[in-house]
Amino acid sequence: MTELMSKTRNILVTSALPYANGSIHLGHMVETIQTDIWVRFQKMRGHTCYYVCADDAHGTAIMLSAEKNGISPEEQIARIKAEHEADFQGFHIGFDNYHSTHSPENQHYSNLIYTRVHENGHIAEREITQAFDPEKQLFLAERYVKGTCPKCKSPDQYGDNCEVCGATYSPMEMINPISVYTGATPVAKESTHFFFTLPDFTDFLKSWTRAGHLQDEVANKLAEWLDGGLKEWDISRDAPYFGFEIPGQPGKYFYVWLDAPIGYMASFKNLCDREGLDFDAYWQADSEHELYHFIGKDIVNFHALFWPAMLSDAGFRTPTKVCVHGFLTVDGKKMSKSRGTFINARTYLQHLNPEYLRYYYAAKLTASVDDIDLNLEDFVQRVNSDLVGKVVNIASRTAKFIQKAGGKLSANIADETLWQKFVAGHNVIASYFEEREYSKAMREVMALADAANEYIADKAPWTLAKDPDNANEVVEVCSLGINCFRLLMTWLKPVLPATSKAAEAFLNCELSWQDEAQWLGEHSINKFKALMTRVESDKVNAMVEASKEEAPKPEAEKSDGWLSKEPLATEIEYADFAKVDLRIARIANAEHVEGADKLLRLTLDLGSETRNVFAGIKSAYQPEDLIGKHTVMVANLKARKMKFGMSEGMVLAAGPGGKDLFILEPHAGAEPGMRVM
Ligand code: 2FM
Ligand code: ZN
Repeated sequence: MTELMSKTRNILVTSALPYANGSIHLGHMVETIQTDIWVRFQKMRGHTCYYVCADDAHGTAIMLSAEKNGISPEEQIARIKAEHEADFQGFHIGFDNYHSTHSPENQHYSNLIYTRVHENGHIAEREITQAFDPEKQLFLAERYVKGTCPKCKSPDQYGDNCEVCGATYSPMEMINPISVYTGATPVAKESTHFFFTLPDFTDFLKSWTRAGHLQDEVANKLAEWLDGGLKEWDISRDAPYFGFEIPGQPGKYFYVWLDAPIGYMASFKNLCDREGLDFDAYWQADSEHELYHFIGKDIVNFHALFWPAMLSDAGFRTPTKVCVHGFLTVDGKKMSKSRGTFINARTYLQHLNPEYLRYYYAAKLTASVDDIDLNLEDFVQRVNSDLVGKVVNIASRTAKFIQKAGGKLSANIADETLWQKFVAGHNVIASYFEEREYSKAMREVMALADAANEYIADKAPWTLAKDPDNANEVVEVCSLGINCFRLLMTWLKPVLPATSKAAEAFLNCELSWQDEAQWLGEHSINKFKALMTRVESDKVNAMVEASKEEAPKPEAEKSDGWLSKEPLATEIEYADFAKVDLRIARIANAEHVEGADKLLRLTLDLGSETRNVFAGIKSAYQPEDLIGKHTVMVANLKARKMKFGMSEGMVLAAGPGGKDLFILEPHAGAEPGMRVM
C-alpha cells in the first residue's frame, strides 16, 4: 500500500488544455473530473497541491474559425475561455488557475525552451513540400485536403489515408485533391521548416518511459514506437498562423503542439506571480516537487516523448507521472450528435446536478487506459441507489432521533465490529484514491454504506424509540449511524464537493481526511435537511433530446459539405448581409463534370448575362431535371478558380443534404435577374 501521509508533498497537477474553438463536452469532463477528484483528495490530505489548466489557443483551426465568425482570434479565444471557465465551474472543477496559451508567460517559456534546444543543436532546418491552397494562400495540413484515393479510387477521403482501403499517401498524390476551406485545387509548394531532433533522445526516452512515470500499458505502447525508430518532429508552421513567431525566424511560427504543453508552465507561472509562489522549486531540473499530467490516450506521444525530451534538453524537470485515461462512450457507442449522446457540459448542467456525473464517473474510473461508458439507464439507477438510497439514507434515518434527544452524539460506540470495519476502510480507500482507482474506492465506500444500513435496519431505532426505556440505546445506535455517515461523506468529499459541504453544515464540523478515522462523540449536530434528490429519468431524456436539437439533423451528418456540421456562426449586422447580392437565376443548362463526384456544371441565366457555376448538388439531381428550374444565386461572389474551371457565383439550395436539396420551381412572378431580399 502506498505511504500516504509520511510527509507533506508539493504537487503540481494539470489536465490537458482544451482547444479554444469548441465547447466542453462530457468527454472532456472525464478528464477534468478525474483530475479534480485527485487534487481535492491531495488537498484534503494536507498536501500542497496546485491544479492549473488553460485554453489551447493557437493554430490554423482557431484562426479560421475566428475568421468564419467574423471576429479576431483574440476575441474568439477570450469568448471561448469565458465559456469554458463557466462550464468547468458548473462541474465544481477547482482550478487554482485557468490561463491561456496565448499569454506573455507562454511566449516567454516557449522562446526560452526553443532557444535552449536550438543552442544544444537539437533543431534541424530543411525544406519540405506541402499542399498549398492558392486561393487562401495557406499551407494545408493533410486533414484539410480531400480527394479520391489513388489506390482504390474511393472518393471523399482525407489527405493522409484512405478510410476505405487503408492506403497512406500524401495529399498531392490524391486524385482530384481539393482544399476543404475553399474547394480550390491545392498546389505543391516548398518552404523551410524547423524540426526537433527527437531521434537524438531515443536512449533517454527508452529509460524515461520505463522509470515509473507511466502506466505499464502506456510504456509498452511507446516501446513499440521507440523500437520502430523515432522521427524528427516538425515544430514550425508558416504564416498566416495564429501563434508565436519563432525567435529570429520572421514568418515562421511555433506549431500549436510545441507551445501547448508549455502552457502548463505558463499557467503555473501566472499563478506564482499572483500568489508569490516559487516557480523554480517546481520546474528546476532537480526539483523534488511532483508534477502530474492527466491526459487522454490520444495525446500520449506529445506528453511522454516530445515533452520530456524537450524539458530535459532545456534544463527543466520532467513529469513525475503522466496519467493516461481512455475515451468516453455513451450507451456503449462513440458519442453521437444524431443520437443526442454528444452532450455538451452546458446542456448537461441545464438538466442535471453535476455531482451525479462526478459520482458516476468516479464509480467507473480506474488507473487504466480503458474507455469508460456512460450508460444512461445505469447512471440513473446507480446514482439513485448508491448516493440517495445508501449514503444519504443513513443520515436521514438516524438524524431525527438524535435531534429528539437534544442533538448530541453519544461518546459510546454501540457496535465496535461495525466501527472497526469503517476504521479499517479509511486507509484502504485513501490508497485507492492515490492510485486513481476510484472505482475500487467507490465500491469500498458503498460496501461500508451497505454494512451501516444493515446495522440500522437490524436495530430499527424507529421501533426501539417506541419504548422510553430504550432512549439511550436509540441515541447510541443513531450516533454510530451518524459517525458512519460522517466517514462516508469524508471519503466522498473529493467526488461530491457540494453535497459534502451541506453534510458539513449538518454535522457541524469540517470533513477532513486525517491519518486515522476518529470517532465523533459528545458533539452537537444540526437539523438534517435533504442532501440530494433522486435523478429523474425524464431529465436525462430531456438532456438527450436537447443535445439532438443542438446537433445537425441525421441526414446532414452524412452530407458532404453542403451543410456545415459547425454550430451557427456569430450573428452579423444587416449591413454585412446587404452586401450579398442574391438574384433569381434560371438554370439554362446543367451537365455532369468529368471526374467530379459531387459537382454539376450549371449555366445560369441572370437575364442580362449568363454565368458558369459549379454546384455540389449531384447527389440530389440529374442534370436534365434541373434545366428550366429557378435557383437563388449569390451573384456578386468573386469568381473562384476550381479544378474544373472558373466558378462565377454560387447557388443556394436548402435541405438536409444527400438526395434532399431543394431548388426553386419556376414561378410566374420570378424573373431571372430579380433581386431576392
Ligand atoms: O488534444 C487537445 O485537445 C489539445 N488541445 C490538448 C493539449 S494538452 C497540452 F499539451 F497542452
Ligand atoms: Zn483507398
